[in-house]
Amino acid sequence: MQEAAPKRAKKVSVIDLAAMKGKQKVSILTAYDYSTARICDKAGIDALLVGDSAAMVVLGYPSTTPVNMQEMLLFCGAVSRGAKRAMIIGDMPFGSYQPSTNLAVENAVQFIKAGADAVKLEGGAEIADKIKAIVDSGVPVMGHIGLKPQTSSLWEGYRLQGRTTESAQHLIQDAQALEKAGVFSIVLEMVATEVAKAITKEISVPTIGIGSGYDCDGQVLVLHDLLGIYEDIKPKFVRRYAELAQPILEAVTKYIEDVKAGKFPAEDNTFHMHSEELERFLSKGEER
Ligand code: KIV
Repeated sequence: MQEAAPKRAKKVSVIDLAAMKGKQKVSILTAYDYSTARICDKAGIDALLVGDSAAMVVLGYPSTTPVNMQEMLLFCGAVSRGAKRAMIIGDMPFGSYQPSTNLAVENAVQFIKAGADAVKLEGGAEIADKIKAIVDSGVPVMGHIGLKPQTSSLWEGYRLQGRTTESAQHLIQDAQALEKAGVFSIVLEMVATEVAKAITKEISVPTIGIGSGYDCDGQVLVLHDLLGIYEDIKPKFVRRYAELAQPILEAVTKYIEDVKAGKFPAEDNTFHMHSEELERFLSKGEER
């Protein structure tokens, strides 16, 4: 009898994610490469965001603005090859959607071709027309309001959003505009907890919080923050589930010591010629 082919894990879809609202919290992490995407997928993460935070935690820039489409597509392809179940969301980098609606649609499609299942754009009502055009082209879109690192780094810096009634009302209007434009979910970054709660109640799609309190429909964190690998800044909203910078430092230090002391590689890590071939080779040496 023929053996049944192993079952492939069913991909988390936009519909699955939307259905979690009010029933089950959505877990999202960023990922930028094949190996970590594979581990997160194995752990059962719902979605992986190929975030433009790659600019800082992978490429070493001081903000997210310098990363470009080519770099983001490379990360996206790697993550999509590592994750079989998690939904992959490609973060559209600064400059890839601002200039025109056509460019926004073209670049969103590039993400899908690179392996993403959806894209994310930063902005509220002012980009609702672009989001609608991308959704109309068939690409699912995740919104992102509150702190928008691509532009806040150029203007007011990284600050809590929704501190005043006016700013809270503005955020609610943005969320409504995005919902109307057809987003399947909205990231709320560094929004006051009370405002995030109001938005979550107000709109029908899941809100995904980062620094926006406990009432959002799900949470997202930057993987390098969660693992304690990125040490340049540690925002208050980050919880480090591991402190991997120290063990990595220790492992690399030990490797350097072993190489210098001739202790690495050892016999276990070494390959040899077959004995007959070795004899033949040595005899050639004698001839010489
Ligand atoms: O790029 C990123 O990592 C993000 C998250 C902070 C939401 O946009």
